[in-house]
Amino acid sequence: LSTIRVDVSGVQPGTQLTVQYLGKPVFVRRRTQEEIEAATGVDVSSLPDPEARNPNIEDGAPATDDNRALDDTGEWLVQIGVCTHLGCVPLGDGAGDFNGWFCPCHGSHYDAAGRIRKGPAPENLHIPVAEFADESTIVLG
Ligand code: FES
Repeated sequence: LSTIRVDVSGVQPGTQLTVQYLGKPVFVRRRTQEEIEAATGVDVSSLPDPEARNPNIEDGAPATDDNRALDDTGEWLVQIGVCTHLGCVPLGDGAGDFNGWFCPCHGSHYDAAGRIRKGPAPENLHIPVAEFADESTIVLG
């Protein structure tokens, strides 16, 4: 399987980088403290999809913000940029009613942890296999 290295040293808080991996966009977002707080304050049992959708942790783990973020501080969120409804690319940078991502194709709103909150998408945005190789490099795959 192929892997790619992503240099995230230039990514400022409150912005995201989009890279292509295995033919799909991957969103690498460096979240602000406000985004992290909004995402951690959500009751998982109220979510349409209660699963983390994160292959880096155990299958079926709950969709807490901790289980979605890449690092312990919660600053980094890495997701496959493909709407789980019919595959459009959601808009980011705080888009939608839940200040995360919004898919304009049929109106799916994802929160600051990429969890589906409103609209037809059945699942949270999926997370790719990813890890930090060093403090400024994320390896995908
Ligand atoms: Fe995103 Fe339908 S493809 S809402």
